[in-house]
Amino acid sequence: MIIGLGCIAFDQILATNAKWKDEKGKIVRREFRFGGNVRNSLVAVAALGVKAAYIGTMSGEVKWKSALDDFKENGVSTEFVDFSDKSHPAEATIVITGDGERFIVYDDTPLHHLGLPSEEKLAKALAGADLLLVDAGICPPGTLDVIKRCADLKIPIILDAEQFFVKKEIILEMITLSTDLILPLNFARLLTDKDDISEVIDTLWNDSKNLVVITEGSKGCYLREKGDSVKKHMSAYEINAVDTNGTGDIFHGAYAYGLLNGMKTIENLEFASAAAASVASLPHGSVRKPTLSSIKEFMSTRPALKCSNI
Ligand SMILES: Nc1ncnc2c1ncn2[C@@H]1O[C@H](COP(=O)(O)OP(=O)(O)OP(=O)(O)O)[C@@H](O)[C@H]1O
Ligand SMILES: [Mg+2]
Repeated sequence: MIIGLGCIAFDQILATNAKWKDEKGKIVRREFRFGGNVRNSLVAVAALGVKAAYIGTMSGEVKWKSALDDFKENGVSTEFVDFSDKSHPAEATIVITGDGERFIVYDDTPLHHLGLPSEEKLAKALAGADLLLVDAGICPPGTLDVIKRCADLKIPIILDAEQFFVKKEIILEMITLSTDLILPLNFARLLTDKDDISEVIDTLWNDSKNLVVITEGSKGCYLREKGDSVKKHMSAYEINAVDTNGTGDIFHGAYAYGLLNGMKTIENLEFASAAAASVASLPHGSVRKPTLSSIKEFMSTRPALKCSNI
């Protein structure tokens, strides 16, 4: 079982055919959907056929209980969730342009009430966990202790982070303990105060790491893996991006699946890149989940990704 800690978001999506440079555009599609790093990653894990469970609290209000219905509809277990007043998803409005770019405005006030479930539920979750997915940028107080427990239990920890809702020192401590770190480039630069990608990776590297990956959207990703200090760049699949929202999260979920299933690092990153890109190129209104067959088909019709030393 893969367990996940982090935030859920409730997103209003406004799509326009206009390009980012056009500065304004007519709304061609409006939809509401749940998102958030860990929510999207867990949904991808479940779609790939591995048991996934969310760990946290949720308001019992009808409007917000629907976040738990969303998990259930997508095959993610909510057995380790406790109800807690005021604890509900962040609310966001996301503008998606005709070139697949997006801008997110959000209200993260409710996330101040996000908590861990009871110790009984947490202990049960940890006892059954093969892997922890965590969004270190937005997660409940106590997450660092959960990460320490996972580290003691030798449970792999895949860590994402995109913002400083949690204090920088705590995020850095969580990063130190993670085994597989996958961060977007902009945030990795902010965390390390370095600009050069190779230096960013080396700053984040330590002996507990299996892998450090820095992602850069359509430009692909950069990596360093255990046993090899040479850093590499992997290209991304060429697609007509329609909606790139949540692609990084799907990348994390698919990578988690591959890690659990013994894929080699490069093979796994190609798999994760395909999962992310295949969802980003789906038409508006599609079910935004990768499956083993959809990823296989996507990869079979495209050239392999290029990997080179940096
Ligand atoms: N436009 C794209 N074309 C092809 N592949 C993409 C594109 N966007 C993302 N990907 C794939 O997904 C990976 C992660 O994307 P990205 O760096 O945008 O993550 P992110 O910034 O965390 O995104 P998110 O906000 O969705 O979490 C990339 O390394 C790449 O393999
Ligand atoms: Mg991301």
